[in-house]
Amino acid sequence: MSKLDDLLRIIKQMTGLANSNHVCGLSYSQLFGGGLGDDLWGVFCNNAANFINDDFRYFMTSSTTASTTSFYPAAKDVDPQDLADLIDFLPCETPDAWIKVALQRQDILLINHAYLEKCAARTALNLMFAYPDKPDLQYKMSRLAREELVHFEQVMKIIKKRGMTYRGLKPSRYAGLMNVEIRKPSDERLIDGLIVGALIEARSCERFAKIAPFLDDELAKFYTSLLRSEARHYKDYLTLAQAYSKTPIDDRVEVFRAIEKKAILEEDSQFRFHSGVPAEHLIRPEHFAK
Ligand SMILES: [Fe+2]
Ligand SMILES: [Fe+2]
Repeated sequence: MSKLDDLLRIIKQMTGLANSNHVCGLSYSQLFGGGLGDDLWGVFCNNAANFINDDFRYFMTSSTTASTTSFYPAAKDVDPQDLADLIDFLPCETPDAWIKVALQRQDILLINHAYLEKCAARTALNLMFAYPDKPDLQYKMSRLAREELVHFEQVMKIIKKRGMTYRGLKPSRYAGLMNVEIRKPSDERLIDGLIVGALIEARSCERFAKIAPFLDDELAKFYTSLLRSEARHYKDYLTLAQAYSKTPIDDRVEVFRAIEKKAILEEDSQFRFHSGVPAEHLIRPEHFAK
C-alpha cells in the first residue's frame, strides 16, 4: 500500500477518534477540502504525534511524497507517485483565490472547460499530422485525441443538463504565453510543444483535483473521473519530449515552468479554467454568490 493511501486511511481512522470538527489540530475542511500545504502539514504532524503508534510515527517522519506536495483527496484513484510527480512538475499550486471565483462562476468554468477539451484534441491531431514519421507519437496522440473528445461530449452533456448554452468565449492568456516561447525549427518545435502540452495537462489535472471537493456531487464525481486520464496525458507528453530530444530537456522545462508560474500566480483580469489570480472585479460579494 502506498504512503498516500496509508495516510488517507489513518486520517479517516483519526476522524472517528477525534471530535467531529477537528482532527489533530486542523479542521475537517483544512484536511479534506483545502489540501495540506507545508505549513498545515507541519501542524498536522506535530499534533498527530499524540494519537499515533510507532509505525505511523515512522511513516510521518519518513514520508517525503506527502510532505513536499499538497494533499489532494479527490485524486485517490490516481497512483500517488504519479500524482506526486505531477505536482512536483508544476511550479506552484492553484491559488485559493482562483477556487473561490471558480465556484462562483461555474457557468464560465464549464463552458471554457468544454472548449479546452476540444483544444486538447486539436493539439494532439496537429502533432500527428506534423510528425507522421513517429509511431509512438501517432499512437499516443491518437488515443489522447479520442479521450479528449469524449471528455468534450461529457462536459457538453452537463452544460445542457444544467440549462446552460455553450458559446465561444475569448480564450485565456495561459496557453498563448507559453506558445510564443516555442522554438521554430521542426525538431525543437516538437520538444517545446510536448513540454507545453505536459504542463497544460498537469495543470488541468491539478485543478480538477483541487476543486473537486468543493463541487456538487455530479460535478465532483465527473472531475474526479477525469484525473486518471489527465495524469496519463501529462506523462505521455513528457515522456515523448524526452524520447525525441537528443539532449536533456530540463532547461526547456524550466523555461516553460517559469512562464506557467507567472500565468498562474499573477493577477488576471479574466476568469477562465487556466486563468491566474482573479482581479478584484471578478470576485462577487458573498451574498450574491451562488
Ligand atoms: Fe481531457
Ligand atoms: Fe488531457
